Amino acid sequence: MKHETVGMKRDAGGNPLDLHAWLRDVEALGELKEVRGADWNLELGAISELNVKKERPPALLFDEIAGYPKGFRVLTCSTSSPARLSSILRLPVQTTHRRLVDELRDKPRVWQAQAAKCEPVVVQGGPVFENVQKGAEVDVLTFPAPFWHELDGGRYIGTGCSVVTRDFDSDWVNAGAYRVMVHDRSHVAIDMIPGKHGRIHYEKYKKAGEPFPVAIVLGGDPLGYLISGIEIPFGMCEYNYMGAILKQPVAVVRGEATGLPFPSASEIVLEGCVQPNDERPEGPFGEFHGYYPGKAGKAPVVTVERIYYRNNPILMGSPPAKPPNDYSYSKAVMRSSLLHDALIAAGVPEIQAVWAHEIGGARMFNVVSIKQLYAGHARQAGHILNQCGVGAYMSRYSVVVDEDIDPSNLQEVIWAVATRSDPATSIDIIQRGMGSKNDPMYVTYPYDAAFSSKAIIDACRPYDHLDEFPAVAEASKALQDKIRAKWKDLF
Ligand SMILES: Cc1cc2nc3c(=O)[nH]c(=O)nc-3n(C[C@H](O)[C@H](O)[C@H](O)COP(=O)(O)O)c2cc1C
Repeated sequence: MKHETVGMKRDAGGNPLDLHAWLRDVEALGELKEVRGADWNLELGAISELNVKKERPPALLFDEIAGYPKGFRVLTCSTSSPARLSSILRLPVQTTHRRLVDELRDKPRVWQAQAAKCEPVVVQGGPVFENVQKGAEVDVLTFPAPFWHELDGGRYIGTGCSVVTRDFDSDWVNAGAYRVMVHDRSHVAIDMIPGKHGRIHYEKYKKAGEPFPVAIVLGGDPLGYLISGIEIPFGMCEYNYMGAILKQPVAVVRGEATGLPFPSASEIVLEGCVQPNDERPEGPFGEFHGYYPGKAGKAPVVTVERIYYRNNPILMGSPPAKPPNDYSYSKAVMRSSLLHDALIAAGVPEIQAVWAHEIGGARMFNVVSIKQLYAGHARQAGHILNQCGVGAYMSRYSVVVDEDIDPSNLQEVIWAVATRSDPATSIDIIQRGMGSKNDPMYVTYPYDAAFSSKAIIDACRPYDHLDEFPAVAEASKALQDKIRAKWKDLF
């Protein structure tokens, strides 16, 4: 990481990842709605949950939250529209899923390749240091941490967050989105599933009996938590990856207590250490697939030594719940483009579009449309969709449809399944595929390890009967276009 002293302007050698700047862009898009007077206790969660189920949900900025001063705000639904997600990813603003997925295709490969050259720059000071709490002043409930859902185990201050840690025996800094539950004014628990990079870091400190330094970024430009929430390769720092997206290094400051870096315009940052073996109850909390798959467990607890925050700070909220949920849209877009790239890389021709449905948490119900070229083409696409690297974990149903079906439109997909498949011959079952203990069905499985079965549904017109297959009874595309143009007021 380069050590430089530069000013805090957006273009002065580093991008401070300023949420205030991004909100101005969202306002200009007409996609920001203010909500005043909601209670952090359940109301804020339920309002956000109902909002995100709308066709085009705006981002919600909660202010004047019950019991909190004006200006101590919470932002939810930040990534839930194609326009906002494209602006976060610094892509030309798109208004349809399909265009956004197409725009995104191949970019992750390029960003990853360029990341090594995009080191963050360390700057001296930034808006995040406008307010500092230390020692006895530390109180994480200075901020309106929501109690999101009725069955949650506590107030979750960290959902759309970025947990920054450093490897025990190298300089590798990692930033992961792991949920953070409040224990008391100076203690928070972090849920890092085994295998996650932050967890790997933690286990090394734990083995050595050393305090584990942590900085938790609780708000900022949503690019921060979006990239912290996707699988960036082992050993690579998320700040480098963000730098590749921004085409500009990320400007970071170092925390006084741990020296860990975080974006200089972060909204709120908690800094401290997990003391050796300080693990306490955490959860339950809902998961991306819409269930509480476990009871309260034990998780490492950070003793917070410093809190840094901007004036009028904005806490970023992105709670999981029954989909569509706060972040299911961003996952659907990102995984759809990765799956599309993976199918092409595996040599499957004539891929028209892919959609990893939000209702399956962008993992469990994925659809590809193809233009059939040869016998077996549909099964090839379905099996690869189900089993490729980015698709195999928790894949359940993989559906293949013809090119006239929009894979993101469930009505059309299920119509194709209902009318173009023969259950006896159109469904392939894979036994003992890659599952998860997090799967709500896990309780019923007979396996000792995290296996699950998978179904590939070939809902394409049978290739050997293409010529005889009945014609679709609807107005032709040309006629539809003509009618829409002539009867604009009706449509
Ligand atoms: C909003 C959000 C919340 C998440 N919560 C958790 C969590 O509580 N625990 C966890 O292990 N992974 C969670 N994830 C998934 C991880 O962030 C994701 O797997 C990421 O790749 C982890 O970073 P890492 O690859 O550096 O370990 C969450 C993702 C998002 C987008």
